[in-house]
Amino acid sequence: MKAIAIIPGTKQVNLVERPEPKISAPDEIKLRVLRVGICGTDREEVAGGRADAPPGQKELVIGHEMFGQVVEVGSAVRSARAGDFGCFTVRRGCGHCSFCLADRSDLCSSGDYTERGIRRRDGYETEFVLDQEKYFVPVPPELVPLGVLAEPMSVSQKAIDEALRVQEARLGIGDSGSGNAWARGKVALVAGLGPIGLLGAIALALRGAKVLGLDVVDKESLRPKLLGQFGGTYVDGRETQPSALANYFEQIDLIFEATGVARVEFNLLAALGLNGVYVLTGIPGGDRPLQLDGAALMRQLVLRNQAMIGSVNAARKHFEAGIADLAQAQKKWGDAVNQLITHVVPYASFADVLEQHPENEIKAVIEWDKPH
Ligand code: BGC
Repeated sequence: MKAIAIIPGTKQVNLVERPEPKISAPDEIKLRVLRVGICGTDREEVAGGRADAPPGQKELVIGHEMFGQVVEVGSAVRSARAGDFGCFTVRRGCGHCSFCLADRSDLCSSGDYTERGIRRRDGYETEFVLDQEKYFVPVPPELVPLGVLAEPMSVSQKAIDEALRVQEARLGIGDSGSGNAWARGKVALVAGLGPIGLLGAIALALRGAKVLGLDVVDKESLRPKLLGQFGGTYVDGRETQPSALANYFEQIDLIFEATGVARVEFNLLAALGLNGVYVLTGIPGGDRPLQLDGAALMRQLVLRNQAMIGSVNAARKHFEAGIADLAQAQKKWGDAVNQLITHVVPYASFADVLEQHPENEIKAVIEWDKPH
């Protein structure tokens, strides 16, 4: 079968031949890959950045945002049958830290975790993939057009879950999990209206927050337009500095960052209100030093009781919550949600989306097959 592989640390990316995987244990599920989304991590990998091949291998098959259809299951599998749709999660635990032992490899504390398509495990840019049932998350057939958004949505869901839990724990409210109790009526600023930001905006709007979305594109372009359809208000970062946002909106209760630009990530703090919570998902590249007024920043965090949280990857429950939100969003906003997927290319044209970044892109995906 065909697969897209890189040699980590170089700019080499090739279509290679790999043996088709075969079920060899009772708890395994084999999927035909339908679509795989491309994100900043994939582009960093093909540009020679952060990526590790599996031990003893020179190449790494890339791809971690996958959606597929079950072709075969092992004899002990109960949650899936041939023909079902779903995806595999990304991270695999170290098997020895307390977080991984509690099925929270997204919080792995030993650092020995692996990630499919990113770190020491082959990914999903290929025709067939196989993994254990515990890593399979079902997607209902009516969500097939959005199934490839399950992984980026899981990343947004975890970040929001972390932020809302902090606020609910402070107030001693909520049913520790839904996040709805605190979010309703709060002002949430989403910075960076790429896929993670827009999916975060959807999740926050569904929880009753008033969403502001910050980016540096024209207000007539697709990202602000979709934000508006999801009930959000666009703020053009070229015209309004984060520090000036307080003049327009009395209190920003939550900031969801998805820009991946270190300078912006720090500047955003100026917009955060009293007792606010700030969750970051962007992973800045490069190592350019940054000059900051450290004392003022620390003073602000302390005197305003602010919480700043970094969030990466996601647990199974975040995939499930994300799929439920996508279903709700599809009912509420219909085609606007489908428009998040702006580019679909056949696998042979992978270079068009891996080595380029079209101006009007939100989510680009590689198509391996159509649903059967
Ligand atoms: C992926 C995460 C992963 C992270 C760090 C992101 O692009 O969506 O699943 O944990 O990269 O490697």
